[in-house]
Amino acid sequence: MADILIKNGRVICPDQGLDEVADLLITDGRIATIGAVREPAHEVIDAAGKIVCPGLIDMHVHLREPGDCDEETIATGSAAAIAGGFTTIVAMPNTDPPIDNPAAAEYVINKGRQANLANVLPAGAITLGREGTELTEMGLISLAGAAAFTDDGSWVTSAGLMAKALKYAKLTGLPIMSHCEDPSLAGNGVMNAGRAAAELGLAGTPVSAEETAIARDIILAHETGGRLHVTHVSTAGGVELIRRAKERGDNITADATPHHLTLTEEFARGYNTNARVNPPLRTKADVDALRAGIKDGTIDAIASDHAPHAPQEKACEFDKAAPGVVGLETTLSMLAAKLVGTDFLTWPELIAALTIRPARALGIAKGTLRPGADADIVVIDPAAEWIIDSARFVSRGRNCPFDGMSVVGRAEVVIAGGAIKDV
Ligand code: DOR
Repeated sequence: MADILIKNGRVICPDQGLDEVADLLITDGRIATIGAVREPAHEVIDAAGKIVCPGLIDMHVHLREPGDCDEETIATGSAAAIAGGFTTIVAMPNTDPPIDNPAAAEYVINKGRQANLANVLPAGAITLGREGTELTEMGLISLAGAAAFTDDGSWVTSAGLMAKALKYAKLTGLPIMSHCEDPSLAGNGVMNAGRAAAELGLAGTPVSAEETAIARDIILAHETGGRLHVTHVSTAGGVELIRRAKERGDNITADATPHHLTLTEEFARGYNTNARVNPPLRTKADVDALRAGIKDGTIDAIASDHAPHAPQEKACEFDKAAPGVVGLETTLSMLAAKLVGTDFLTWPELIAALTIRPARALGIAKGTLRPGADADIVVIDPAAEWIIDSARFVSRGRNCPFDGMSVVGRAEVVIAGGAIKDV
């Protein structure tokens, strides 16, 4: 494999507390040296004025394969990941059929390898068919190469089953990613319960649907010692519950999405179906709490919840629309614009939430530029100004709430496993 030298970039590696202008040498698909490098390299990338950091990790994406390849495939989703600067993605199991057995997990891994773009790690379902009644063969799914377990899209409503799942997951060393939303409280809600929903005449999901679910799962994780990861936190109360659990020493992690960090329920006015997501967009106070959670580490990671849907599933009445928005190609730039551009986060803080923090939450040896690590790297142009145009996405999904927005910052070169990929 050819040596690559990335010269004169601002090398940011939050895992090592590194933020300095330096050269970075890649040999044999691994990080060799950071510093002033004199060795001749086969390929030289001039990164002056650019950021050089670990390839981004998105621990929550929907790739729709098997089952809905008109919406996305493992190959098109991987290409979208690379276009957005992500070199590792975790594929949710709510496919058709679901990833609820070892062969299905192997299928996702093999398809990811064939695509040869990003590292695609499957999350296995917690329960058979994601039906919430019987546990999957978690040990075998883990041996097949799964990175986590989740019934994403649904919460495991039986506390007894969730407690068992946490105990089994502990034996595998993998986290349980919980979609914390109690359906008995969420009911047929399609947006946040509150004034906007009342004025729009739409059914609302109260914050209690999320917060009671998070509270229960924290209690179960505490008692069982299982690894709980709360995915797509959307409420201020949820952030507070996780903060308190962490303060008492619980081994809990969490993520929030770019849309929950930047949009409120007000976005649903006009019945824009790209405001239809699960959990729903909340209020400004919730957005502020999520941002504070990222800043102080209560929320470990930012994950896109990339959820492509066919056009007809969004070109309909708001309450009939499928929940979810795409995010792989906009996450970095939206957050750069809205969180770094406003001086709320520094570049190293944002990069930490997209690299080493999700890597630690997943327990994978990624998200770092330590010598010897896999050469998964992204070169970011922090000054690149562009307008988001969903028609130009690599993803098959066009359901983007940020379409038409001006953003700054873009992945320019993406290297996965030491190989330069087409961005
Ligand atoms: O908005 C969402 N879309 N939330 C989920 O939990 C599932 C996802 C999907 O699969 O479309």
